[in-house]
Amino acid sequence: MGPPDPILGVSEAFKKDTNPKKMNLGVGAYRDDQGKPFVLSCVRKAEALLAAKQLDKEYLAIGGLAEFNKSCAKLALGADSEVLKSGRNITVQTISGTGSLRIGANFLSRFHGGPRDVYLPKPSWGNHTPIFKDAGMTLKAYKYYDPSTCGFDFTGALDDISKIPEKSVIMMHACAHNPTGVDPRPEQWKEISDLVKKRDLLVFFDMAYQGFASGDIDKDAWAVRYFIEQGHNIVLSQSFAKNMGLYGERVGGFTVVCNDAEEAKRVESQLKILIRPIYSNPPMNGARIAATILNTPELYSLWLEEVHGMANRIIKMREQLAAGLQKEGSTRNWQHVIDQIGMFCFTGLKPDQVERLTKEFSVYMTKDGRISMAGVTSGNVGYLAQGIHTVTK
Ligand code: LMR
Repeated sequence: MGPPDPILGVSEAFKKDTNPKKMNLGVGAYRDDQGKPFVLSCVRKAEALLAAKQLDKEYLAIGGLAEFNKSCAKLALGADSEVLKSGRNITVQTISGTGSLRIGANFLSRFHGGPRDVYLPKPSWGNHTPIFKDAGMTLKAYKYYDPSTCGFDFTGALDDISKIPEKSVIMMHACAHNPTGVDPRPEQWKEISDLVKKRDLLVFFDMAYQGFASGDIDKDAWAVRYFIEQGHNIVLSQSFAKNMGLYGERVGGFTVVCNDAEEAKRVESQLKILIRPIYSNPPMNGARIAATILNTPELYSLWLEEVHGMANRIIKMREQLAAGLQKEGSTRNWQHVIDQIGMFCFTGLKPDQVERLTKEFSVYMTKDGRISMAGVTSGNVGYLAQGIHTVTK
């Protein structure tokens, strides 16, 4: 018998709990202020448009729905991207972020010219490790989070990155770092980009939360676009699970930025050869929904508003949680609850405190002390503050 998954296993344990006050702050899944799963209005409208078209259910191409791939790349790289204009990217539709990362990891494991080592930020999303390991890459790490400040360890990161062997692969979270909620600032990204160029590293960007860091889709893609402008031929994973709320639809994209259009064609052919024996071709429903939203101006504007709304509700919950802790009488500094961004708060709770919070309060979260702020509501934020204060005083 193997162990339960560190993130999805939390949801399984939560389901068995009968306490009416229970909270699932494990998995990063957005809830409305009533704590209910949230289907975006733009998604409902796109579904209605698609239903009216009575489309067929033929297989998609191995690389997925062409109009989705095009708009997926445009969303990340920007409408004016030189890469898109010169056609030197290849973007394939993937089975959400995980599927994209795995296709990317398999591709690098097979074709990367440098060492098959991938350097992850410490800490990184829990699933990064098995994804790269199962694809045959060797896992390494660079300093990222500083527990003493609950912030970004910029000096430590630069120091570690400067020692990475040339041509290795380095994984970076494009925005809203998971699990810490701590991102480099633009000036810091610039220095990282220079250093990465000096070391000739291949950057693998994971962008699962575009829109969730700042509430602005373009702002959140800044690091990805900046690295490309600086001449990095990056690889990129995208997910539409969070920003379109398409979790179970499994919609994502994998992009390789190449030297030219001819190289992009060759990479495309190898990606197809790689995908075909894994899942043959991707599912169509979610990609059709996402493509409809991205290509219908009214739905696109509605989507931007809704992303903004989700990001804002989370910011409000951060403020209310910090205020609630103060009201409970906590003398600790909880400023990081407000300062961290995206869906998660890396609370700094120790494993025994997490265990108590679950046992005594039925608050479910991952052992590393991460809570999904998206599961906190006006109705339960006070209860959460009371629980956190009790286990930390
Ligand atoms: C998370 O970190 O909670 C999400 O990315 C969901 C997942 O699949 O782990």
